[in-house]
This record gives sequence, C-alpha cells and structure tokens, in this order.
Amino acid sequence: MNHPEWIAILDYGSQVTQLIARRIREQKVYCEIIRFDTPAEELKARAPKGIILSGGPCSVPDEDAPKCDPALFDLGIPILGICYGMQLTAHTLGGAVKPGLKREYGKAMMHITDDKSPLFKGLSPDLQVWMSHGDKVETIPEGFEVVAKSDNCPYAAIQNLDRNIFGLQFHPEVVHTPQGKEMLWNFAFKICKCTGDWAMSKFVEDTVKQVRKQVGDDHVLLGLSGGVDSSVVAALLHKAIGDQLHCVYVDNGLMRYHETEEIEELFGSAFGIDLTVAHEGELFLGKLAGVSDPEKKRKIIGSTFIDVFADRARGFGDQVKFLAQGTLYPDVIESVSPIGGPSATIKSHHNVGGLPDDLQFDLVEPLRELFKDEVREVGRELGLPSYIVDRQPFPGPGLAVRIIGDITPERIDVLQQADLRVREEIMKMPNHLDVWQYFAVLLPIQTVGVMGDDRTYENVVAVRAVESRDGMTADWYKLPYEVMDSISNRIINEVRGVNRVCYDISSKPPSTIEWE
Ligand code: XMP
Repeated sequence: MNHPEWIAILDYGSQVTQLIARRIREQKVYCEIIRFDTPAEELKARAPKGIILSGGPCSVPDEDAPKCDPALFDLGIPILGICYGMQLTAHTLGGAVKPGLKREYGKAMMHITDDKSPLFKGLSPDLQVWMSHGDKVETIPEGFEVVAKSDNCPYAAIQNLDRNIFGLQFHPEVVHTPQGKEMLWNFAFKICKCTGDWAMSKFVEDTVKQVRKQVGDDHVLLGLSGGVDSSVVAALLHKAIGDQLHCVYVDNGLMRYHETEEIEELFGSAFGIDLTVAHEGELFLGKLAGVSDPEKKRKIIGSTFIDVFADRARGFGDQVKFLAQGTLYPDVIESVSPIGGPSATIKSHHNVGGLPDDLQFDLVEPLRELFKDEVREVGRELGLPSYIVDRQPFPGPGLAVRIIGDITPERIDVLQQADLRVREEIMKMPNHLDVWQYFAVLLPIQTVGVMGDDRTYENVVAVRAVESRDGMTADWYKLPYEVMDSISNRIINEVRGVNRVCYDISSKPPSTIEWE
C-alpha cells in the first residue's frame, strides 16, 4: 500500500531493528524495514519523510561490511543513523571510524552539549542511554558538530543541521534508553515533519478499498481458527467483500470448552459470515486412538487438518480464486543483511501450507503490514470482543499437546473442564492480560486420594501459567496463592476424575511452555 507519510528503516542486521519500527509506529507514524542497500532512486520515488539507518554487528571499515547507497545523503530527506548507522554516516561522508580498544556495552550517562539540537528538544541535559558498540567514530565529517558526549564516547550524538543528518552512537529504541522514545518522536515530528496519520481506523478504511480492488467479483476462502489473526482477517474481509468471503473452521475435537460454539455464534450469527464448521472430532480422534508419541500426534493432526480443509475447499468449486491468510509483518520483513540474524531472514509463511495441487489460490494477506498489537487494535476497531482480540496463543494441535499419553473423549472432557476453571479463575485477576498463557495439562498418571470416606485413585492435573514476550523464552508466573487455591479447589471439587492439582514452576528454557 502507498503511504503518503512514512519513514524508511534500512536494516544493517541489528537484533533490535524491529524495535525501531515498533517505537515509530507507536507514535502513529507508518514505517517499513527495508534492505540496507536500497538504491537512493528507489527511495526517492517512494518519498519517505525520513530515513533511519539501523545498528548492526559489522565493522564499517571492513571492505565487505554492508554499505548504503551514498546518494541517500543527497536526497534532501532527513537521516538518522543509529550506532552502526551513525558510523556508516560518518564513514560515507568523510569522517573516520576506528576499531575501539574495548567494546562499550551497557548503560552509560550521556551529557547533551547542545540543548538546541532538535533531536533532544524537551529533554534534560543528563540522560541514561544504552551503548553497544566496538568501533568508534574518531573524526566527524565536515559540516557536522557534536551535540552529546559520554565518558567513554566523545561523539555520542552528532548532527549536520544544514543537511538534516543526525547520528546517535547509542540505541534510542531500547527501554534502557528511557528517553529514547522522545528522541525518535523529535526525529519523526520535529525533523521529518510527520503528522502521525497512521491510525488503525485509517488502516481499516484503506485495506477495505485495497481488498475490494484485489478481489473484484471473485470469492475468498479463509481457514478460520478462532485465533486473533484469522479472526481479525475474517472481520476485515467481511467488511470489505461481505458474502464473497467463505470461512472454514475445522473442529478437530481438541478445542477448548465451548470454543466451537463461541466461534459459530460470533462469526456465523453475529457477523453473518458464511461459515462452514467441519465437525470432524470423530475423524481426528479415530486417527489418534492409541497414539501417545507427541510428534506422531502432531503429524496426524496436521495432515488430517489439510485433508479436511481441502475437502471443504473443493466444495466451493471454481467459485473461489483466493485464499486469505493472517500473515503478519514480522513474518514478511524483507531485509537482507549480510550476516544472517533474526531481522535478516526472509520467511515465506504459509499458515495453510501443503494444500494439494488441484487447489491453487492467489493469496490475500491483509495484515502483512502489521505487528501483533496493531492487529489487536484493528480487531477492536472492527468490533471483535476482548475474548477474541486478547486471546492467548493456542497451539495448532489444540489440547492434544496438553493431554500426555492417550487421547480419548473422556480424557478430553476432563481436560476441558479443568482448563475452563483455570481460565475462569485467572481471568478474575485484574491484571490477567499480563499472563502470557495459562492452561491445564492432563497427566498420564493416577494418584491416591480420599473423598469423604472413600479412597480414590484418579487423575493429576498440572496448571501452567507463564509470562513471556514472544513465547521463545518464558518464566513461570508467580500466581497469588489465593488464585492457586481457588483453581485447585474448583478443579478437585467440580471436575470428576481429578484428585490432585500441581503447579508447574519451570521456565523456558530448559522446559517448554507446552508439555506435549
Ligand atoms: P513451546 O511449547 O515450544 O511453545 O515452548 C511456544 C509457543 O508456541 C505455541 N505452540 C504452537 N503454536 N502451533 C502453534 O500455532 C503449534 O503447533 C504450537 N506448538 C506450540 C505454544 O502454545 C507457546 O505459545
């Protein structure tokens, strides 16, 4: 999509390039992470309001270090170089960058020497910043001046006001530079003259028009899982193309308690979307009977899902030309850095991969430009309820990865009931949205208990609640004792077949979030 107001971020491979984008978007300015060697001509044609050169792990003086097109600096577009980006700026414009004797890493105090610098407008003269660099700028290019320094770094910030070019040796995008956000705000609004026009309501409006243009009179199929992304795609596409959208929801019998009914009610009845619910619990459970190996379970569920989805898709005949997917921005960032690393990967992401050859669709991916929290905001904008937009991540194979050992209808029922109580009790906590995931796990053992005068020999349920930023690492959540108490009481008293509840106090790594 063409955005009249945007900032380009050239990626030199820093681990935190995405954070620059997050910080800029939080200020309601659209931005994109693009290749480090994007030609100046291309940028000129797309006319960003500003250009940011990111940090990176390479050493500017190295011959094969990633460089920018030097003509960028002659476009008349404001430029901000961050860390490696500042060194690259200095190097390209005639300054000198030398390997430092020791790496400067961590918090540093910085002193602003020029309080008139537009980058530091409104900030106090002494600030904490986060440094992470080996090389140092030794000589700044002609026309540049120093505007801030730290004990270890005489050139913590430089500028050339005539050419609107700025450099920061530290990282304003990380939380350890508490006023970094203000600096990026100053860059976007004071220097690049952005107005902050990136609003989710406008995104919805623009995307609706774009989808209508892309799809025309054709029809679109969406695999709706009930997760945040596919739910938002459903609501968005429904707004754009109404009954040209067809959703298929596969109930594999391993959903949470009442989940299928909630989806049917919301999308089928309330939104009036053409929704096919494939009730295939029996098929899935039949194939899973007697299987307790977690990888085998996953494979069976994955391939059965494709079979069912393909079968229902064929039911639409030739009418459907497009397949919609909830691909998000972190999956499509197309920056190619020479060193690999997370910001460098080109991922082609297919939520519904492996469809048979007779089902060839073009893709509609209306969330390609968004981060997860923006997707949630779009969901709210479209009137989706909190139980959808604030939903925790839920594994594709569903409760199968939370039933250790054999999967039977009876064991699914026990787990659904226990899981419901875990969710209900935690959702009573005012800060429940701080908990990344919480759920029950059914263990393949029985233990002895007493109930009234009787001895029982019944199931053990483990409760898992974790905090995390992205699911890659996680810490067990310190639930208040009262909450643990009510979870345990309710499960043991209300769920037949459970006489013991344990709380999982392991972190990831070395454990994982799911038990499998
Ligand atoms: P683990 O158990 O590997 O899980 O620590 C990390 C995160 O990924 C979720 N998860 C999945 N999500 N399909 C998904 O969409 C899957 O097959 C799957 N397996 C695990 C898990 O819930 C956690 O958030």
